[in-house]
Amino acid sequence: MIELMPIAEQFRSLKSEILSEIADTIEQGTYILGPKVRQLEQKIAYLSGSDHAIAVANGTDALVLTLDAYGIGPGDEVITTPYTFVATSEAISRVGATPVFVDIDQSWNLDPARIEEAITPRTKAILPVHLFGQPADMEEIMRIAARFGLIVIEDACQAFGAAYRDKSVGSIGHAACFSFFPSKNLGTIGDGGLILTSDSALAEAVRELRQHGSAKRYYHHRVGYNSRLDELHAAVLLVVLEKVNEWNERRIALADRYYEQLSTLSSITLPMRTPERKHVYNLFCIRSAERDRIRERLLARNIQSGIYYPKPLHLQKVYEGLGYNIGSFPEAERLSLEALALPMGPLLTEQQQDAVINALQDIEAGQGEL
Ligand SMILES: Cc1ncc(COP(=O)(O)O)c(C=O)c1O
Repeated sequence: MIELMPIAEQFRSLKSEILSEIADTIEQGTYILGPKVRQLEQKIAYLSGSDHAIAVANGTDALVLTLDAYGIGPGDEVITTPYTFVATSEAISRVGATPVFVDIDQSWNLDPARIEEAITPRTKAILPVHLFGQPADMEEIMRIAARFGLIVIEDACQAFGAAYRDKSVGSIGHAACFSFFPSKNLGTIGDGGLILTSDSALAEAVRELRQHGSAKRYYHHRVGYNSRLDELHAAVLLVVLEKVNEWNERRIALADRYYEQLSTLSSITLPMRTPERKHVYNLFCIRSAERDRIRERLLARNIQSGIYYPKPLHLQKVYEGLGYNIGSFPEAERLSLEALALPMGPLLTEQQQDAVINALQDIEAGQGEL
């Protein structure tokens, strides 16, 4: 079977370095918010060009704590995309604010051309997602935000290492959130997350929130959370961080091969590419009106594929009360019927990728019948 995301291979390939870091963590004797977390925060802040990095328990908490630290809550609205993992809008709902969805553009991210009509006096922030590793149109989004005095929080959970006009994603908005879930480009063998910002007041607030609302032990001046990254995960992430650039370049090289080999197929559309956006292909998603048929035929050849996402967020039961219907966001709805993720990952071999490419060529030529 050719896996959609050969993740275990990645960690296995780093096993001896990871075990040695874990042994070091046991010896060092500090297990929560210790030197490895600090080192990870410093390295990521430096690499991304932001002043502060604050590690937390997972990417969802990164979003919740950021929204909370900005004082966003009941009565406030946050503009976001309906085409993302539910954690994006869940975080908005979790702090008591209302997600206001806006349809997607050609990059499958929040469409800046539709943001303005969604802004109301209650709008506090825009929360773009860099979906599948492809940056959203940050220039336009920042311009609109500046005009209306809105905060921009980047959901960069799927896009570690991506860039927009040579600026790392995560350093463009007022704050950004990352996930270290195992399948992310920078992932650990468990959960983890991080907030990036150059806003010192926000950084201080988030640092307090992750530790029960305290800056000084046993003194609490706000209601906080227990949302810390374990030293053990920081130890693993320090090892993966050394590899992540090389692995992202490998993902890009594999994506180039997909573009070269698949661009002549008329049954599928490849993801948009523009010179100003560095896509890091956490997922390589194509779209096709024949999606389900292609998926079935790939599986018959032992090739996994994935559907991200089968139902846009505005049509989910949890958001029934927001008043959206089928037809509210036609682009997102159409993509949910057509998107198909192909095998992708730094350790995918060219031979495996060729099998995927050949299968897609055969399916189009009518030779892929079951
Ligand atoms: C776009 C997006 N936002 C938020 C999250 C939440 O991250 P986590 O699973 O670490 O809580 C994820 C990852 O699963 C994601 O893909």
